[in-house]
Amino acid sequence: MISDLQLNEAAEDLRNGRLVVIPTETVYGLGANALDATAVAKIFELKQRPHFDPLIVHISDQADLKTLVRHVPEKIQQLMDQFWPGPLSVVLEKLPIVPDLVTSGLDSVAIRCPGHQTARSLIRLAGCPIAAPSANRFGAISPTTADHVREQFGHQSPKILDAGACEIGVESTVVGYHQDEVVMLRPGGITRESMETLIGEVRIAGTDNESPSSPGQLTKHYAPRTPLKLVEHGRPIASDTKVGLLTLSPESEAEDLRGFQAVEYLSRDGCYRQAAANLFAAMRRLDALGLDQIVARPVGNQGLGLAINDRLSRAAAKS
Ligand code: TXA
Ligand code: MG
Repeated sequence: MISDLQLNEAAEDLRNGRLVVIPTETVYGLGANALDATAVAKIFELKQRPHFDPLIVHISDQADLKTLVRHVPEKIQQLMDQFWPGPLSVVLEKLPIVPDLVTSGLDSVAIRCPGHQTARSLIRLAGCPIAAPSANRFGAISPTTADHVREQFGHQSPKILDAGACEIGVESTVVGYHQDEVVMLRPGGITRESMETLIGEVRIAGTDNESPSSPGQLTKHYAPRTPLKLVEHGRPIASDTKVGLLTLSPESEAEDLRGFQAVEYLSRDGCYRQAAANLFAAMRRLDALGLDQIVARPVGNQGLGLAINDRLSRAAAKS
């Protein structure tokens, strides 16, 4: 439990330009006052994040949106009404008050109203929007517990508000708006199907040359140190090597497990919600075993499966 005192101190830190690690329902975030460019610069420094990769700005109430963006298209409004507070970030045309450092010089800014109570209370107390990327070094696995953050930053870690494990476990879905269409820039905690039920077709970025892309969607990301390979079947390297398996459930992995040194099931029952919540921690556990390779099995692309497969294929990418 986080006390009022801890919350007040963290809000004070944010107001004074310091960083605070904040719990959200997706992953832990490395937060700074979004309107203070000097504070935001500390995020890029600690994360070793390239400046072309813009940040998400977190607000505690939809009403705060109008202080940050110019205009909200109808379909984006419908999505916010339905899914906020929650794991959805919307990219909209920014107002000048948002520092260029936050948006990497883009005219647009990504905004999210998180579902996590502590995150919203903190933003309210701080009295400013909070820019927060996932609290890991650039390209590394996102943290879903406070311990993951401590392991990553060690003595360099800012104050951490420890609220236990993140419920959703994969980052927010990022959507933009382009030529009268909603475009999904990153799959995440809100599924494409649930958005389409509400507003009709949602395009996936990168499926044509017209739709904009998200600068942070580099191929290699969320990566363990151990080489990870995404394959449907089998064990692709020599028999004298140590290989770990990351797979959905015992049922999905009906094959012989004797070739594997370790196995991580994302969900015993094959539930995607549970699999998403376990994904990054399972990847870290395998990464800690000193294996030669991790073999990961893709899941189905429906629901949260799209976000799970996205993270797995980025963890597997060469660069
Ligand atoms: O769940 C989440 O979204 C977490 C928690 C902490 O809120 N945050 C997070 O932030 O995942 P980060 O920095 O790891 O990812 C931000 C993503 C990147 O892919 C970035 O390119 C995209 O959002 N993004 C941010 N601003 C954008 C913009 N103006 N246009 C397009 N994409 C943008
Ligand atoms: Mg990240």
